[in-house]
Amino acid sequence: RPVYDFRGQVALVTGAARGIGLATSRAFARNGAVVVLSDHDGDLAGEEAERIVAGGGEALALACDVADEDDVATLLGEIDARFGRLDMAFNNAGIQVPPSDAADEPLSSFERVTAVNQRGVWACMKHELRLMRRQGSGAIVNCSSLGGLVGLPGRAAYHGTKHAVIGMTRSAGVEYAPRNIRINAICPGTIDTPMVQDMLESQPEAMVEIRKQQPIGRLGTAEEIAEAVLWLCSPAASFVIGVALPVDGGFTAH
Ligand code: NAI
Repeated sequence: RPVYDFRGQVALVTGAARGIGLATSRAFARNGAVVVLSDHDGDLAGEEAERIVAGGGEALALACDVADEDDVATLLGEIDARFGRLDMAFNNAGIQVPPSDAADEPLSSFERVTAVNQRGVWACMKHELRLMRRQGSGAIVNCSSLGGLVGLPGRAAYHGTKHAVIGMTRSAGVEYAPRNIRINAICPGTIDTPMVQDMLESQPEAMVEIRKQQPIGRLGTAEEIAEAVLWLCSPAASFVIGVALPVDGGFTAH
């Protein structure tokens, strides 16, 4: 059931083809927004956009690799050409790399995860802000992680990128607060998505450990993250700026 009235507003979600990005795209559409589902898997994003449209929502898929700034500039240029505005953006696209002893982590892992998770958010935010600055309004949510708030063994590169997302969010958040643009970050705990399923396939014993780590005793759902993203984008969060909001079943409180 819709909670917000996002009719007439344009929302961009990166990494929208599956997992948290897909659940958030569906939630934006349910609440009346025109949703741009962007993903480097353009075919899958296209199928999901068609499903939203078939269900009565307004959606469009545009392929983009967030690690490539030219691609990101083209994406925002297309949004500008089609709609002339961008009201909400969820910079969600991100990848994991295999856990590694900090003394052994290959440079290629560091570079891959940094290019998508850190440089990708930086590039998206930069080009989104150009549209929002022009119109004098907007809300951006960047996807960090519990890994942006705490450290865990084997995770130096990935957690480093997620800490960086919070730093960029705070800096740009204070910079754009006087210009009616709110920028916040979301920090999901362990969420049942294809990313986590892929990881568990290679380490099935990890599931018991992961459940134990969550005070709530279960994994989160992508829909539970979508709820928080929509709230951060909505007028209900009009005084919320530069926060890193944990949605993690109590993990970081523990
Ligand atoms: P997922 O792997 O299920 O989905 C990610 C989507 O991003 C995919 O559709 C993929 O094609 C797309 N993507 C990957 N690289 C891209 C690129 N360079 N350009 C454009 N799109 C790209 O992942 P999930 O679990 O939905 O995660 C989404 C975000 O949430 C990520 O930033 C992740 O780091 C973060 N997160 C996830 C947690 C979890 O437990 N699932 C926990 C904390 C944070």
